[in-house]
Amino acid sequence: MASIQFSYQTSCLVNQESLDELNKRLLPEIDNLQQSQTQAYDTRYAFLNVPQDKKALQCTQELINEKQKLNPQAIIVIGIGGSCLGPRAVQEALFGTFYNAHQPDVAIYYADTVDTDYLYDILLLTEQLLIAQQTVLINIISKSGTTTETIANAQIFIELLKHYYDDEYHHYVIVTTDKDSALWKLAGSKSFARLEIPARVGGRYSVLSPVGLFALGLIGVDITQLIAGAQSIITPCLSKTLAENPAAMAASCLYSHHTRGIDIHDSFFFSLDLEGVGKWYRQLMGESIGKQKKEHNSITRVGITPTVSLGSSDLHSVAQLYLAGPINRFTSFIRVKKNNSDLVVPEYPEYTTLVKSLEKKSLPDIMNAIYHGTIIAYSKTKLPFIEIVLPEKTSYYVGQFLQYSMIQMVYLGYLLGINPFDQPEVELYKQETRKILAHE
Ligand code: PA5
Repeated sequence: MASIQFSYQTSCLVNQESLDELNKRLLPEIDNLQQSQTQAYDTRYAFLNVPQDKKALQCTQELINEKQKLNPQAIIVIGIGGSCLGPRAVQEALFGTFYNAHQPDVAIYYADTVDTDYLYDILLLTEQLLIAQQTVLINIISKSGTTTETIANAQIFIELLKHYYDDEYHHYVIVTTDKDSALWKLAGSKSFARLEIPARVGGRYSVLSPVGLFALGLIGVDITQLIAGAQSIITPCLSKTLAENPAAMAASCLYSHHTRGIDIHDSFFFSLDLEGVGKWYRQLMGESIGKQKKEHNSITRVGITPTVSLGSSDLHSVAQLYLAGPINRFTSFIRVKKNNSDLVVPEYPEYTTLVKSLEKKSLPDIMNAIYHGTIIAYSKTKLPFIEIVLPEKTSYYVGQFLQYSMIQMVYLGYLLGINPFDQPEVELYKQETRKILAHE
């Protein structure tokens, strides 16, 4: 099977000597990752074990098969952070952002905020289905089981299900959480189906666990291929030869530029369907790398800001800034070699006076020309970047990209000397919110 392609050599603007030095620094962490592969979920690198977890895949698949018998027309994913960004990224990458408008067998909606108007709209859509006697499932996903937004939304949807399904409503609720969390226990007491999140796999590293797999499998994503793709890229990403290790290479480039004041990482996707993957990556980098580092009795604030740009739309919004403004950005250009469609511009001679050479060109050809034009503009402006090409938008290659990104973050955290697996300051806002709600 082919693989996603990475190229960086001339464009990353880090010299070979620095790359070799960083490669040497990464060797102990590569050892740690390699060793963790024999220790299942027992290390901080537990996410690496997820694609090998046949039992989790089987349990999830069995539950999908069971719930498919109810003939669901929609699933509502209720979660926030990794719990929603992961499944949404994969669904959009594979089925497009207009998925629900195409009247699929199973529509999917994401309740990932307590914006009342947004939730009201999803609730209305759900209720219309229920009135038409169609089946709706809800998947409540929360690792901690105590996230305010998720639990608030869960109760709103449970009330709706209770209204239409009476005592049978529990058949339509699936809870994905840590084993023995308070939510796990509550779900047990209500007879909801439960899926377990491995204890040491954090929210933003959990997309390939039942967190992502249940809803994705239910809407028809080939979850076996998603996992297979993720698994296939582990060996190269744990290679000790930097030139063969795309995750270590990207982390080294990002780190090297970070030490020179380049503290933005722009993921520039030339494929609109991958915007969700960009938002997933934004959380992964934001929460993993933005940290307070305690050293010699002082605290330094560390971080690289992840941004998401979309080609070609954003060339007409932010490219001017990128090409002329401060040089403070490292870019990963991500494109897809073979699209699912191939629209062609018709031949209307009168339009050639407006833009020449368009007639009979396909949109992928035009997009390619724009892409390469952008690459040349970045090169001429001496802006550092790497290029990533997905052969196609399939589960396999999306799985590869997700796993590559997670391993990249581990290396980057190591080089920066911070823990990429916690998010203590997010907990701060969660606690303060609970206090405010308790006193209102
Ligand atoms: O990556 C993370 O761990 C977080 O962003 C969580 O996904 C987010 O805070 C939601 O937490 P929980 O899954 O516990 O509801």
